[in-house]
This record gives sequence, C-alpha cells and structure tokens, in this order.
Amino acid sequence: MPTLPKAKVFPITAEVNAAGHLLIGGCDVMDIVREHGTPTYVYDEATLRGAARAYVTAFQSRYPNTLVAYASKAFINLGLAKLLAEEGVGFDVVSGGEMAVVQAAGVPNDRVHFHGNNKTPQELREAVEWGIGRVVIDSFHEIEILEEVAAAACVTQSVLIRVSPGVDPHTHAHTTTGILDSKFGFPIQTGQAQEAIRQIMAAPHLGLRGLHFHLGSPIFELEPYVQAIGIALQFAKEMGEEGLVLREFSPGGGFAIAYLEEDEPPTPDDYAEAIVGALRRGCQELNLPEPSLIIEPGRAITGPAAVALYTVGTIKDVPGIRTFVAVDGGMGDNIRPALYDSKYEALVANHADQPPTQTVTIAGKYCESGDILVKDARIPAVQAGDVIAIPASGAYSPSMASTYNLNGRPPILLVSNGKVRLVRRRETYADLMSADVV
Ligand SMILES: Cc1ncc(COP(=O)(O)O)c(C=O)c1O
Repeated sequence: MPTLPKAKVFPITAEVNAAGHLLIGGCDVMDIVREHGTPTYVYDEATLRGAARAYVTAFQSRYPNTLVAYASKAFINLGLAKLLAEEGVGFDVVSGGEMAVVQAAGVPNDRVHFHGNNKTPQELREAVEWGIGRVVIDSFHEIEILEEVAAAACVTQSVLIRVSPGVDPHTHAHTTTGILDSKFGFPIQTGQAQEAIRQIMAAPHLGLRGLHFHLGSPIFELEPYVQAIGIALQFAKEMGEEGLVLREFSPGGGFAIAYLEEDEPPTPDDYAEAIVGALRRGCQELNLPEPSLIIEPGRAITGPAAVALYTVGTIKDVPGIRTFVAVDGGMGDNIRPALYDSKYEALVANHADQPPTQTVTIAGKYCESGDILVKDARIPAVQAGDVIAIPASGAYSPSMASTYNLNGRPPILLVSNGKVRLVRRRETYADLMSADVV
C-alpha cells in the first residue's frame, strides 16, 4: 500500500489504498463523495474518541479530580454530543442553542458549564430552569440578572467567576482572551475581579465555587498557563481573607493541534504536566486546599478528527503570478483562513499516492477575493472533478459555517470501521428559505 503523505495532520485511521485513494475510518473517500457529494466534512470516530480519552487520561491520571469539559463552540451537534458524553466528558456551552443541543443529547446537566461575555436574560433563565451545573459569570450586569433569575426560581445557582489574569498566550489577536484589553472576564489587575467576587458572595442566590480563566487559542506554549495559574492562585489566596473558598479551578482550553506538517504542538501529557504541576505547586506554596480542576479542550478534540472534501472546478492560471484551483466550498464552510489567516495542508484525495509537482492556491467559490482556503499548496497535477482533502478541519469550520451566497451548509459524516454514518445532512434550497416569511 502507498504511504500517506502528511500523515501527521490526518485522522489516525487515514491511509491510501492501491488505487491511490484516501481512506478514513476504512472508508474510501471517493465512495463517500459519490454518495454524499462535496463539500463534505468527514469525522473519524477513532480519532475523536482517542483525543477525548487522551485528555481525560492525561489529566485524571495526574489529578483524579478533573472534569474535561469539551468546548462545544469548536463543533457540536446531537450525534457528536452523545458520542463525547460516552467518553465521560462534560460540556462548555456559550449559548442557549449549544445548551439546548447538549440537553437534547441527554448530557447530565451537572457536567455542563455555561460561558459567555453577554449571556441574555432569556439564556440565563433557561440555564437556571434546566439546572445547568455552573454559570461562569463574566460581567457585573450578569451578576445582577442571574441573582434575580435564581431568586425568582427559588434556587441557588452554582457559579464560577471568569477572571482575566493579564497573560498574553502569544496567539492571534482575534483569539487572545486573557489579557487586560479583552471583552472577556473581570481583570485581576484593575480590582474589578475583587469587586465582582464581593458582589457574588453577597448575592443570596449565587453559590460561588471558584475561578475560571481562558487565555486564548491555540496556545503552543506551556509557560502562559503556568504563569496565569500562579497569578490566579495568588489572587484566590488574597480573596480567601474576604471569604472566598476555592473549591473549583479552571484554566480553560486553548490546547493546540498540528494544522501543518511542521507544527509541533505540546501533547495532552505536556499540557497536563504543566497545568497540574503549576496547580499543585501553587496550592502547596500558598497553603490552599487543592480544588477540583476543569479543563476545556475544544479544538484539540474535534480539530484533528475531520477532513473536508471538495471537488475541483475551474482552474485559472495567471502566468507568472499564480494558479488558482477553485473548489466547490470555501469561506462559507471554513472562514478560518479569511478570519485568522489560518494555514492548512491539502491532498488530492484521488491521487494521494502521487508526489506534488506544482504550487497552487486553492480558492473557494464565494464572491470574495479573500475566499482562499490554502495559499501555496503543493499538489500533483489536477483537473476538474478531482477531490481535494483538507485535514485538521474539524474545529471552528462547520461550527462557524454560514449560508453566505445562499450555499447550503455541508453534511457531517462520521466514519468508523468501514461504515459511514450521516450525522447532519446537507442543507437544501428549502432549508435556506425555511425561515423566510412571505
Ligand atoms: C472559555 C473557553 N474555554 C475553552 C475554549 C476552547 O478553546 P480551544 O478550542 O482552543 O480548546 C474557548 C475558546 O474560545 C473558550 O472561550
């Protein structure tokens, strides 16, 4: 069998058959394309479950009192929520919609944490009504509303407070969240975190369980976690004098993955060693009891599991400038290159055994010049009808997909042991008009 090029960025079951076709989960992607068309997102069940288990094991083996809460914003739907719940993970949700999906999937509510810098009163009512495990409070306005909502429901809502430790994780400015100049969290530096804790402790229907922060994403370094954990624990110690008991502690998510062959992200064990080490050391030095730990990997669970499949259409050569290979998807199903200048590898799925011979730009079909999926992709010769596979596409692509230009969003398939399961169908023209009122 030919070897799979760029294997590092493909799902763990990916291989190439004798015909030179890419296989995922034992399924020939060309058969998938024949049946389901393109663009299509194929998630490999073994990679998904393997990543969830890797994070659970890495943390729980070092710190048994850890909850791994999958960050649903990376991508969630009913099938995926059920599958991940089977792996013993909880869920971080950021909207009523995400909360409704995990509810409908039957996830136990005490394993659900509700985040967001501007949760609506309606969403907070739903969270309290549905008995969501933790609301992670992010603003003074939210303290007021949540207290009112919990009082009206005659319950005490368990909450965490999101603080901003003022640590730069050295990632893209649009995905940096734990610095002072951020819309997220109460800054420790300005005294606002201290004031928020006082207000929450004085609110009779809010039960403060501990602290949360999230630095950004993806974070390729370990040091920002270590530094921020030190700052947050020192702050917890100081707030202990005002009555804060740190029962729970979360350094958020942000764990990186390899998008390109040359990317070298830390492993789940590396992150666990750094985070658990910093937490244990800090608690010991400050004489704090060890809290339970919550980590929130999103990208690291779903990102490596999926491959996006596209069909080549128009090929435009601008002599001396570049060759544009246009595919039938683009920024509508993956906004990340346009939004964050994100980079990807590309493989011709029906000629996966052939060495690259040219450098091209893989462009989408949307009416925007910025709709470029991969700049400078090294691929063999292609023609209309060939299939391009873009790996590491499972996180923040389908979840950020839009119906721009009124293209329906692609289907989501789950593959395992030679079987293909449709877990979300392609949107039809009727779907695109279904909410219109005439
Ligand atoms: C609070 C919080 N937790 C977790 C995450 C997940 O980040 P990642 O997908 O990089 O792990 C995010 C991402 O924005 C977040 O805001």
